[in-house]
Amino acid sequence: MGEGTAPNQPAIGITRKPYNPMPLQKTLRVPGDKSISHRTLMLGSLSPDKTEFKGLLNSEDVASTQACLQALGATCEITHRHEHGLDGWIQGPKNFPTTETALNVGNSGTTIRLLTGLIAGKNSPAILSGDESLNKRPMGRVITPLKLMNAHITGADSDKLPPVRIHQSSSPLTGIHYEMPIASAQVKSCLLLAGLFAQGDTKITEPLPSRDHTERMFTHLGIPVQRTGNNIQLTGAENTEFTLPASTWHVPGDFSSAAFWIALALLTPDCTLTIENVGINPLRTGLMNALQRVGANIQLSNPRTACGEPVGDLIVSTSTLKGNLLITPQEVPTLIDEIPILAFICLFLDGALTVTGAEELQKKESNRILDVAGELQKLGVTIDTKPDGFVMSGNPNFYPATPTSALETHHDHRTALSLLVLDFVLSQRKPAHTTLPINGKHWAAVSYPHFEQQLANLPITQSGIV
Ligand code: S3P
Repeated sequence: MGEGTAPNQPAIGITRKPYNPMPLQKTLRVPGDKSISHRTLMLGSLSPDKTEFKGLLNSEDVASTQACLQALGATCEITHRHEHGLDGWIQGPKNFPTTETALNVGNSGTTIRLLTGLIAGKNSPAILSGDESLNKRPMGRVITPLKLMNAHITGADSDKLPPVRIHQSSSPLTGIHYEMPIASAQVKSCLLLAGLFAQGDTKITEPLPSRDHTERMFTHLGIPVQRTGNNIQLTGAENTEFTLPASTWHVPGDFSSAAFWIALALLTPDCTLTIENVGINPLRTGLMNALQRVGANIQLSNPRTACGEPVGDLIVSTSTLKGNLLITPQEVPTLIDEIPILAFICLFLDGALTVTGAEELQKKESNRILDVAGELQKLGVTIDTKPDGFVMSGNPNFYPATPTSALETHHDHRTALSLLVLDFVLSQRKPAHTTLPINGKHWAAVSYPHFEQQLANLPITQSGIV
């Protein structure tokens, strides 16, 4: 057990202080799944009827997708805003624009990559770019295969970077067989969206299975998409006017957001959190499997299916994490977004964490190998980085050195959220913890706008001792 777990009951009537070893038990929900929210809006924009959604993620990234689709002529209305997301509807335009639309995707890689495929499929001219961090993210991975499908498309820096320009072409796209050099759900989904409108079959071979939300959502809408091993195949409509049926989507909570509460529950003394209604697609839950290998107490209850996606409740309790944890290249796609928080969790591991086969981390919202390592080094942690991962040793009694300078989030929501969790956990494990200096916490809003507020309320609301 770490430091700071001695019982010390606060008197009734006293607001819970940051350091408080009272048992922490709470049931909570996380915002809607980001990947599914983007896809819900995009698929809805391809229907002439109203697609309804419940629990859509209310965040900057999803707002970027919504704004882009509205610029392309879709109508979207939010009818109800609640703690865990947005309810509303989206309806596609009669026709996508025939003159160039300028689209700002903000910080969202999913928006730019998936929309590029959708717009190329619709043969609607557009130019897509985003913020400073987004404009450095690789686009060759979608431009190259879309060109093979006969899209007229260009990108900056010899077709490698945004802005991406889609020119109108005289004929629909052609289906191809594309062997993806990297496991990327964004690339796969881009090609599947383009393939909807193409002549003939689009066949994609993935080196490793990546998240399959697009395939599941197509299937839910009655669009046949076959998977055989690592091959996915779709027959195109040969028609840029092809439309999808409307549906009602119930967006489950985002496992990637639940990951921050999993970390908090595992590392906070005397804590049990029940996280309800979380998406537990097996291609997303690699963090849970990895942590269970080193003793994490994470249980699944009430498994069910919603709109073709597996959903359940997670019950997570304080755990002693022990053993050496190796993340293999095969499992990387199933926890690609969770590697920053995994590194923070493993600060407290009685053993070593080795991450391999994760070179893609260099190309996320920040360089998640070098930037996460840099922040941990400021806290006195020894971490050896490699192009495809890192090795670090944890300590069950970890408490950081006074940071050599303020901690930075590098414009990256997952780093911002990880640092906020670390600060909270330290405050619960160590009396007189001094709050970590963190610059750029606001980046958390890209995927989880109210996290800091939820965290600030936690010690008071859970105990009822106010
Ligand atoms: C996403 C796929 C992943 C993930 C990203 C969202 C998606 O990226 O990192 O946050 O919604 O398809 P890659 O597919 O590029 O690995």
